[in-house]
Amino acid sequence: MPIRLAVPNEIVPGERRIALEPGVAKRLLDMGVDVCMERGAALSAHFPDDAFEGVTIIDTAEELYKDADLIFKVQPPTLEELDLIKDGAIVVGFMQPHTNKAVTEKMCEKQLVGFAMELVPRISRAQSMDALSSQAAISGYKGVLMGADLASVFFPMLTTAAGTIRPAKVLVIGAGVAGLQAIATAKRLGAVVEAYDVRSATREQCESLGAKFVDTGVSADGEGGYARELTEEEKQQQQDVLAEHIAQSDVVITTAAIPGKPSPRIISKEMVARMKVGAVIVDLAAEGGGNCELSEPGHTVDFESRVTIHAPLNVPSQTPVHASEMYAKNLFNFISPFITESGDIELDWNDEILAKSVLLCEGVVRSNRVRRDEEITR
Ligand code: NAI
Repeated sequence: MPIRLAVPNEIVPGERRIALEPGVAKRLLDMGVDVCMERGAALSAHFPDDAFEGVTIIDTAEELYKDADLIFKVQPPTLEELDLIKDGAIVVGFMQPHTNKAVTEKMCEKQLVGFAMELVPRISRAQSMDALSSQAAISGYKGVLMGADLASVFFPMLTTAAGTIRPAKVLVIGAGVAGLQAIATAKRLGAVVEAYDVRSATREQCESLGAKFVDTGVSADGEGGYARELTEEEKQQQQDVLAEHIAQSDVVITTAAIPGKPSPRIISKEMVARMKVGAVIVDLAAEGGGNCELSEPGHTVDFESRVTIHAPLNVPSQTPVHASEMYAKNLFNFISPFITESGDIELDWNDEILAKSVLLCEGVVRSNRVRRDEEITR
């Protein structure tokens, strides 16, 4: 029996992405999957229903979820959505397990199988499924455009009849996927770019993109290629060096994050007060509380008419076409190896990627990473 895949409208306010795009829908249909989508679900990402040839369009979420065996989501399901999902279904999407305990518990009660895209391991074979990366790259790109828009200066050097304009100085803090894309985008716009990260491997990556690496003498490589939290001493050392560079910058883009923890506080109020008049901070770590003490997630703060601190939320959603295309391909690459010739699904728990990406199954949280972070012992 072919499996029934349901792709609902994303109901979280401000979410414009969708977990399906026409190319992915066609590939799933070709594999024999019964693909269903809620009417108008992809309009916010500029895909009309008639672009999804062969997909069954269903009028309401109730009808859509009723018989669905597999659900593709962008945002974690809400408690109301979970009421509509049948017991035992497979849900694939971002799950935000560290901030969504009530949802995780209800998913366990309903014996759902939940795959969290945040948990897909960062290994070579899983790169095509890595939704954190595909979406972070969009944030980095868009964050720089936001910075350029808010800045009171040009990014490129200009030689004009009215004189020569010096290029903007951009500092990127946190050189993971978003940070590296931010460096590349700021360089393309002609800025002089500096970058900083606590992981030692990033120096070469930043330099290869044309940024000058800021060396604070602090190195904090953690588990699995991620950064670890800094000690108080390390934080102070980092701040002492960074404060000088921040004070010289026209635009600072911050992306520093530690999985499962609040964003590290890197820019204090005092550091902001030392910035140039007209300078801008774009805090792309706002989702986790922000890297700047003055950031208000989801808002733009005007600090004493001197510095603008912009802390946008859900940045990938502001580029919904490509964000949806990349995300839908990530989900397809994740699930398609387990679709059988008859269009059914057979999960292979010996597969490393599948086994590490499962958040919950058979009523319990399975992810060791989440169990450890949340101190779950049951
Ligand atoms: P992330 O979003 O967790 O963090 C962003 C950046 O902030 C990281 O580079 C981190 O080192 C940095 N950071 C954390 N605390 C900081 C602090 N106090 N000061 C300055 N910077 C700080 O990272 P992302 O982008 O998700 O990448 C995480 C790791 O995964 C990286 O090692 C990356 O190279 C790796 N990766 C591997 C892939 C693969 O092999 N398939 C694909 C994508 C990423």
